[in-house]
Amino acid sequence: MVCLGNICRSPLAEGILTHKLDPEQFLVDSVGTGSWHVGDPPDKRSIAVAAGHGIDINHLRGRQLSVNDFENFDHIYVMDQSNLADVLALREKSNSSTPVTMILDSIFPGENVDVPDPYHGGREDFKKVFDMLDQACDKIAERLEKRQ
Ligand code: 4NP
Repeated sequence: MVCLGNICRSPLAEGILTHKLDPEQFLVDSVGTGSWHVGDPPDKRSIAVAAGHGIDINHLRGRQLSVNDFENFDHIYVMDQSNLADVLALREKSNSSTPVTMILDSIFPGENVDVPDPYHGGREDFKKVFDMLDQACDKIAERLEKRQ
């Protein structure tokens, strides 16, 4: 799960998808394309909205995307088109063919819909982001479980 800062959207996506999958079978992680929040916990508003749905993301810490991620993960989901461009540029350098997908493609196929960055927004924006990611992760989990 990739966003810009790895403190608002992608830690939520990581927590939500982890919650829907068997931890013995799947590893979900999140990163930022930027380095500002490396080592930081998620934004308090992301922690709060996740906790409101019984999902604990307190322990997550910011990490920056690296070329190794293309080897270590089978699929990369990005939150918006700017993340997509950044991730594809790094993928090119790593000579990898790991699939990279806009996460909302799972619910709006082919429409290139962004998960809006809630960083400068309020609690309502974080709630909306949670709901979008929850719906997308339902579809992703369904698909992954069928493959088992
Ligand atoms: P995120 O939101 O990409 O959803 O984690 C952001 C958080 C912090 C910054 C940008 C986006 N920042 O510039 O510090």
